[in-house]
Amino acid sequence: MRKIVLSLFALSILAACGGGDTGSGTNPVAVPETPTDPAYQKGLELVAKSDCLTCHKIEEKLTGPSYKEVAEKYKGATPEKITELAQKIIKGGTGNWGTVIMIPHPSVTQEDAEAMVKYILLLK
Ligand code: HEC
Repeated sequence: MRKIVLSLFALSILAACGGGDTGSGTNPVAVPETPTDPAYQKGLELVAKSDCLTCHKIEEKLTGPSYKEVAEKYKGATPEKITELAQKIIKGGTGNWGTVIMIPHPSVTQEDAEAMVKYILLLK
């Protein structure tokens, strides 16, 4: 009898864990720790709908550096640096990570590009 009760208990725990999606970890480009920064959410959406992820991944180097490496390199970035990185997204460029060129994104506004940079810098 005790065994049955125990295994029923175990089953109900399994069902509780395996069941519904609690919402965390489902978005591959989201980090769960920093959802409170409004720039993070905005930047995340902008990056997800632009072409960024064809060349950048969060964890791995692709055509461009991983966003974690970028966040590491520019941690503690001043507002001026964020403006400069946003300009680079808009105008494209090369030289900071090697000789591969990032294509320009002329349709991205300065404001949106800065939100993207802020999101990326939160990914460390
Ligand atoms: C065609 C591939 C490609 C696409 C698309 C692309 N990037 Fe890049 N990105 C690169 C490369 C290559 C570099 C490294 C440039 C360098 O060496 O200075 C880079 C560098 C960066 C950097 C660091 C800049 C620096 O000076 O250190 C940021 C930030 C960045 N990309 C953000 C973005 C965002 C946001 C988007 C989408 C709007 C995007 N990238 C789209 C290839 C790309």
